[in-house]
Amino acid sequence: MRAVVCDRLGGPSVLKVEERPVPEPGPSEIVIKVGAAGVNFPDVLTVAGSYQHKPELPFVPGMEGAGTVHAVGAEVGGWRPGDRVIFGVRPGAFAEYVKVSAKSPLLRLPDGWSYAEGAGFRVGAQTAYHSLVHRARLRKGEVLLVHGASGGVGLAAVQLGKHLGARVIATGSDDARLAIVKAEGADEVVNYRTADFVAAVKELTAGKGANVIYDPVGGEVLEKSMRAAAYGARLLVVGFTSGGPSRIMSNHVLIKALSILGVRAGETIQRLTPELGRDYVEELPRLAALGVMRPHISHRFPMERAADAFQALLDRKVVGKAVIEMG
Ligand SMILES: NC(=O)c1ccc[n+]([C@@H]2O[C@H](COP(=O)([O-])OP(=O)(O)OC[C@H]3O[C@@H](n4cnc5c(N)ncnc54)[C@H](OP(=O)(O)O)[C@@H]3O)[C@@H](O)[C@H]2O)c1
Repeated sequence: MRAVVCDRLGGPSVLKVEERPVPEPGPSEIVIKVGAAGVNFPDVLTVAGSYQHKPELPFVPGMEGAGTVHAVGAEVGGWRPGDRVIFGVRPGAFAEYVKVSAKSPLLRLPDGWSYAEGAGFRVGAQTAYHSLVHRARLRKGEVLLVHGASGGVGLAAVQLGKHLGARVIATGSDDARLAIVKAEGADEVVNYRTADFVAAVKELTAGKGANVIYDPVGGEVLEKSMRAAAYGARLLVVGFTSGGPSRIMSNHVLIKALSILGVRAGETIQRLTPELGRDYVEELPRLAALGVMRPHISHRFPMERAADAFQALLDRKVVGKAVIEMG
């Protein structure tokens, strides 16, 4: 089979396509023929060597995808060859076949979804769900501010926030991409390159601010967000696409009674708390079947152009998801 391989750490150009043996399933493993794999910012960071999870070289990148079950280990129940599934893996999705542990639950690919859509669902949906439902406990009627809203985890939060009954204000750096975010459900969009998002949020909320702030961007965006927060707001630290962490002003935390909540969706899935396990197996497929968080796919690449897929993320061109299709 063909696979995208990283044998040295660096920028997108280190990626190459190589021949590899088709994996065999162990007793509690499943081998999937991959139709498409989603490209996530953590893939770019992992290949650069700057992500918290550091696989041994050489490795096949990619943390999510969709395809058909090819072979099932002797101890695995519930799945049969030919089933259309959404999977997560750490890492290995950018290949024609991938072996996954039955401990990392598969989701059934909803009827009518393409492999590309399924490939772009899992990371965004589980991050948005874990953030808004488990961590922030977002309530109907609250104001949700989503930064980096045109990105994979950002757009899923816009879609889920709307479904949960929040008023969603979305920020981003480009009017054309923000127009798609609005079409996907945001009530208001703010371009933080051309407008002061703190002033905009204050104006839109009659001076009150946002109740929940979802931040995959980090740096000064989170620092400024403290000033856009309502009394008692919950701030979700999701990621750092701007390049680095933020300095949290503890006086703002005290004066406004803020809660700063770290989000580690993937790690929590690995640990499968009973609450998350149940929600992951029952609630995410239910939402997917309703069409909630159905991914917007703006870019599709063949395996040979995996480097271009990474570059599209770095150049902030992607809306929703870029995927690699196995052909
Ligand atoms: N905590 C968790 O469990 C978890 C899970 C998955 C991902 N993440 C993290 O979430 C973040 C977003 O991941 P993603 O896959 O959604 O990424 P993505 O699709 O590339 O979206 C990232 C967004 O960040 C914004 N951005 C701001 N500064 C940027 C810069 N210098 N370079 C690139 N983008 C920039 C862009 O929107 P604008 O240009 O409109 O600002 C872009 O749409 C990453 O830091 C990732 O590691 C965290």
